[in-house]
Amino acid sequence: MSAQRKVGVLISGRGSNLGALIAAKDAPYDIVLVISNIADAGGLDKARDAGIATKVIPHAGKTREAFDAELDAALRASGVELVCLAGFMRILSDGFARAWEGKLINIHPSLLPSYKGTRVHERVIEARETQSGASVHFVVPELDAGPVIAQATVPVHPDDSPDDLAARVLAAEHQLYPAALRMLADGKVRLKSGMAVFS
Ligand code: GRF
Repeated sequence: MSAQRKVGVLISGRGSNLGALIAAKDAPYDIVLVISNIADAGGLDKARDAGIATKVIPHAGKTREAFDAELDAALRASGVELVCLAGFMRILSDGFARAWEGKLINIHPSLLPSYKGTRVHERVIEARETQSGASVHFVVPELDAGPVIAQATVPVHPDDSPDDLAARVLAAEHQLYPAALRMLADGKVRLKSGMAVFS
């Protein structure tokens, strides 16, 4: 049996996706470090409760490059091989994205390439979409533009509020993210020539 892949997770908030990654049974990965740019992010407690090392790296007063250099150093010092963004509310520098190319993934609450960016659920409802969902994708320098690894679809009901839709999408995220990370950790998907290649 191959060794567990060492994973670092970057968060800024409640960390429900982090919780789902932690809870996955028989996962081919170990989460060895959780980093937050926000000192009181709820996800840090989830990590601590699970006995996972945590680190707070505040972003205020730093250039993007200096902040990212601290992230990079902390991840490498912990032997991290794969990095998951899970509600991490900072845009990463091109240099960081390139340094971790093929090893850095994100979850976004829409069916990419539709609805990149913020206010996703509001915009989906305004556009009267009948379906939405979540996407896990490789991170590339351009925001929310990397090759998709896996997606989950949920219905949009006519009377949905943004919160209703967010909750339905989030439940799908909690299934999707561990499954996608498992594929990456098992080597069943990789980034090649700017595309997600499956084997
Ligand atoms: C999720 O909706 C995720 O798709 C987006 O940020 C949210 C994070 O939620 N990138 P949580 O902190 O994992 O609960």
